[in-house]
Amino acid sequence: MKATIAVLPGDGIGPEVVGQATDLLAHIAEKYGHEFTFVEGVIGGIAIDDTGDPLPPETVQICEAADAILLGAVGGPKWSDPTASVQPERGLLELRQHFGLFANLRPVKTYPALVEHAPLRAELLENVDILFVRELVSGIYFGARQEQGDGDESHDTMSYSRGEVEQVANVAFRAAQGRRKKLCSVDKANVLASMRLWRRTVVEVHEEYEDVELEHLLVDAATMHLLTRPGSFDVIVAGNMFGDILSDEASVLAGSLGMLPSASLRADHFGLYEPVHGSAPDIAGQGLANPIGMFLSAAMLLRYSLQLEAEAQAIESAIDAALEAGLRTADIAGAGETPVSTSEFTAAVLSRL
Ligand code: IPM
Ligand code: MG
Repeated sequence: MKATIAVLPGDGIGPEVVGQATDLLAHIAEKYGHEFTFVEGVIGGIAIDDTGDPLPPETVQICEAADAILLGAVGGPKWSDPTASVQPERGLLELRQHFGLFANLRPVKTYPALVEHAPLRAELLENVDILFVRELVSGIYFGARQEQGDGDESHDTMSYSRGEVEQVANVAFRAAQGRRKKLCSVDKANVLASMRLWRRTVVEVHEEYEDVELEHLLVDAATMHLLTRPGSFDVIVAGNMFGDILSDEASVLAGSLGMLPSASLRADHFGLYEPVHGSAPDIAGQGLANPIGMFLSAAMLLRYSLQLEAEAQAIESAIDAALEAGLRTADIAGAGETPVSTSEFTAAVLSRL
């Protein structure tokens, strides 16, 4: 098949991991007889430097003309002055909102090869396989806010409509139906009005999915349950900010934040694919980044936007095989294990495709 992929490397380790991922996709294209065209655009801090705008109109046009977007990371100390009028992160938020990518899928699983050096006891990590479904274009990230300025008061507003909760709940219930048929909805319904609406709506949507077992957890309790009984979760649905926080916490289960991929989807096949990790400015440019979260995001792109399931699985199996063979980037290397560089890890994955 022919596909056009918008490539937005962004900042920090973004360009490094995105470069490896386009190599990987080019390999897949050659092996399976596809034609992928990569069109690059700027976003985040580098876009502010180039144009003053973290999401320039040319980048939006490139994405609009593409079948899917592959993104690295945005942000860094250079642009993190709290008094600055524009942040790199705005570019990413505007991109998600522009395309209405309301369902952010963040799968988290443990890798047997990594369990030995994990911070949690091995028996807790058995059979951990969780799919987070994070609402991505509403909630406190997009509610009414007072922009920072010189004043002594600022606010952000958490707000949800019934329709917004319904559409993300439907994605989560359908995902659960295709998995182990359990859904945990996370909220703060004991305190926040918007979260009471969230819970009511999820309960209503549940009526259409009676084969799925539904559990509710308050977000504070959820942070604890995620570490004490991670193997009991199947799909977890949460609002924008709670999903952001819980998915970073859950990365500990996978071994490193560098392991987690994400897909941001709407109702059709279009999507934005990015690793959950950020720009990691402290290790940028040193060949230390773990490309797995980026590679698994590329696999999700093949699966969800291009319907290339076999190709997606080929990437996932090659990563498993490289880990089984003992290859480790610095973030997942245990005591006594010698880490490999980003490009060495990539070469190991390519050779196992
Ligand atoms: C994420 C990130 C972003 C978010 C930032 C970079 C805006 O933390 O994708 O999880 O908060 O959504
Ligand atoms: Mg985050």
